Amino acid sequence: MSFKVALSFEDGVTRFVNCGPTETVADASYKARINIPLDCRDGACGTCKSLCESGEFDGGDYIDDALTEDEAAAGFCLPCQMVPTSDLVVQIPTTSDVAKTTAAAHPATVTAVDRLAEGAFALTVELDDRAALAFLPGQYVNISVPGTDQTRSYSFSTGADAARLSFLIKYAEGGAMSEYLAQRCAVGDRLELTGPMGSFFLRESTRPLLLLAGGTGLAPVLSILETLATAGTTGRPIHLVYGTSFDTDVVYTDLLDEYTTRIPGMTWDLVVADPETVHPNSGYVTGLITPDHLHHGTADIYLCGPPPMVEAVRGHLDAEGLEVTHFYYEKFTPASAPADEQDAPAKVAASETGVVPADEPEVDAVLVVDTPAGGSSPAAPAALAPATAPVTPLPSAGARLVSRLPGDPIPSIEARPRGYTPPAPGTHPAAAHTPDTLAGIAARPDGHTPPVPGLFPAAGAVAEPRAPIAARPDGYTPPQVTRPTAATLATPRSETITSGPGVVSGEIHPTISHSDAQFDARMALELGVVELTMGRLDRARLSEFRMLAESANQYIDGDRFLDPEKFTAANSQFHEFLFRCTGNDALLQAYRLLEVTQVMNSVLPDARWVSQDIVPEHLEIVDAFETGDRDAASYLIRRHTAHAKATMRTAMDRQGLGAAS
Ligand code: FES
Repeated sequence: MSFKVALSFEDGVTRFVNCGPTETVADASYKARINIPLDCRDGACGTCKSLCESGEFDGGDYIDDALTEDEAAAGFCLPCQMVPTSDLVVQIPTTSDVAKTTAAAHPATVTAVDRLAEGAFALTVELDDRAALAFLPGQYVNISVPGTDQTRSYSFSTGADAARLSFLIKYAEGGAMSEYLAQRCAVGDRLELTGPMGSFFLRESTRPLLLLAGGTGLAPVLSILETLATAGTTGRPIHLVYGTSFDTDVVYTDLLDEYTTRIPGMTWDLVVADPETVHPNSGYVTGLITPDHLHHGTADIYLCGPPPMVEAVRGHLDAEGLEVTHFYYEKFTPASAPADEQDAPAKVAASETGVVPADEPEVDAVLVVDTPAGGSSPAAPAALAPATAPVTPLPSAGARLVSRLPGDPIPSIEARPRGYTPPAPGTHPAAAHTPDTLAGIAARPDGHTPPVPGLFPAAGAVAEPRAPIAARPDGYTPPQVTRPTAATLATPRSETITSGPGVVSGEIHPTISHSDAQFDARMALELGVVELTMGRLDRARLSEFRMLAESANQYIDGDRFLDPEKFTAANSQFHEFLFRCTGNDALLQAYRLLEVTQVMNSVLPDARWVSQDIVPEHLEIVDAFETGDRDAASYLIRRHTAHAKATMRTAMDRQGLGAAS
C-alpha cells in the first residue's frame, strides 16, 4: 500500500508524491525528481527538517542533534527518515524553485460551461490524466485562457476526489477569461491547468469550523464541504456565512442545502449587501458572525474573500474581542492579472479571478466596503456596517465560596516545616525556549521578622508618617509622555503570509509575547491569592483543590497531551479555584478577565508536547497548601508559570513554521 504525500513549498506550490510502504518521503521525492533539502540522508544533520502538518508516520532513526524530542513532539520530522503510515501533508522549508520542481501542467478538455447567475460561470473540465493532479481542498490552479497568452487563478469548487473538476468564475466584463467563457467557450476546448497551488487548504482537525465566503470565494469552501461530506464528518459544528453583493450573484444555494443533509451539524447563512435583496439577511458577512460561531475560541476560521472583506473580518474580530483558534484566509490581489491588464479598470484586472475580485468595490467588495461620500477606507471600522455582534458575556461569578464567615478569627499561617525542600521539578527540555531563568526563592532579608498575620495595625490606626516627595530639581523638565497608540500597542496575534502570483494566503495566531503576558499576569494574581488563602483552606477545600489538580492532570501523560482541549478546561478550573476561595469578587473577576484560557484554546488544540513539570507542579502546589508552606507555593507558582509559557511557546513555534511554509 502506498500513501500520498503533499509537499507544500514556501511559494505556495504543492507537489504530491506516492510513498511505498517502506519508502521514505525523501526517496519518494527523489524518484519524482523533487530535490527537497537533503545532506546526510541518515538522520544526523537535520538539513531536511520539515513540519508534518497532518497524517501519521514512522519517524525512523535519527540523533537528537538532527531532531530534538521537543521538535518531534511539535510535529517536526526528517523526510530522509520518515515513512508514512497514512497520507501526509509536509511543509518543506524552501521554495519549489530551490527544490528544482515546479507546479505541474495538466492538459484538460472543457466538458461544460454554465452561466449560474448574471455574474458567475461554472466551468467543468476533464483532465487527460486525472490521477496526475492531486490537490488539497481549498487549493487553486492557474488556467490558461484559450486564444490568449494569459492565465487566471481559480480555486477548485469540487472535492479532491471528483472525476471532473469544476471552478466557480466571476464574470467581469472585458476580462480575458470572462469574455472567453461568455463568447467563445465550447465543450471540447482544450485548456491547460498548472498546479495545484496555495496554502489555503483544510487542515486536519475535529474543531468547530466557521467558513466565510465572499462572492466566488465560495469555490474553495465548496471543495472543503465536499471533502467533509465525502469523509463522513460527524459531530463537528460547521457554519458557513456566504455573502454576495446582489441577489443576482447568489449561486449554489441548493447545493449548500444539500450539504446540510450530508454533513450532520452543518448550518449556513446567506447575506446580501444590497438592501433591496429578497433574502432575509441584508448587510455584510461580519454582521452574521456571532460568538456562538467561535465556540469560545476553539473554532477554526477559513475565509476566502476580497482583501477588504478579509481586513473587515479581522478588524471585526479584534474590535469585538472575539478570539479565534486558527484563522486561515485567502485573497486575490491585482497582481493576479498580467501587467497589461493591471492598467485596465480594476473590474477587468482582478474581478474575474476564481476566488474573489481584489479591488473592485462595486462588485464583491461591497460585501464589506462602505463608500459614503466621505470616502471612508474599505478597512476602516466605519465601513463595517452592522458589524456589532455581541461580545460573549463573562460567565456568572457563581456562588461565592468562602472558607470562613465574617468575624471568624483568621487562622494563623503555619510555619514551614523544618527541612522542607520544595520538590525539584524536572529540567525543562526546551532549553532554546526557556533558558533556566527561574529565580530561586529570594532569601528573607537579614533581621527581618515578618509580622504575625492578624496582628496588623487595626483600621484607623495612625500610619507612620511618610517622607515628603522630593521637590522637582530646578530647571528639570520631565520628558513628555507619549501615549501608546493603537499601532504601538502590541498586537495579540501573529500573522504568516504565503504569497503566490497574485494570491495572498495567511494564518493568524496569538503572539508569544501576548501569551507570555497573560501567564505573567496570572502568576502575579496567583501570588497575591496565595497570601489571602494560605493556611485558610479547610479539609474539604483542600480535597477539592487536589481533585481539580488530578482532573487536569488526567489529560497529560508525561510530556504528551492526551487531550489538550479538555486539559485547558480542567486546568482553568484548577487555577480559578483559589480565586474563588478568597471570596473576593474583584480578584475572581480579574482572573476571569485574563485571556489565559482563550489563548490556550487558541494554541493548544494542535499541541502534542507539554512540559513534564506541569503535572507534578499541580500536585505540589496542593501539597504546599496542605502543609501551609507559603514560600513553597509561591516558588512553585513561579516555576509553573515558566513551564506553562514554555509549553505555549513550543505549540506556537509549531504553528509558526506551519504557517510559514
Ligand atoms: Fe540529514 Fe535528513 S538529510 S537528517
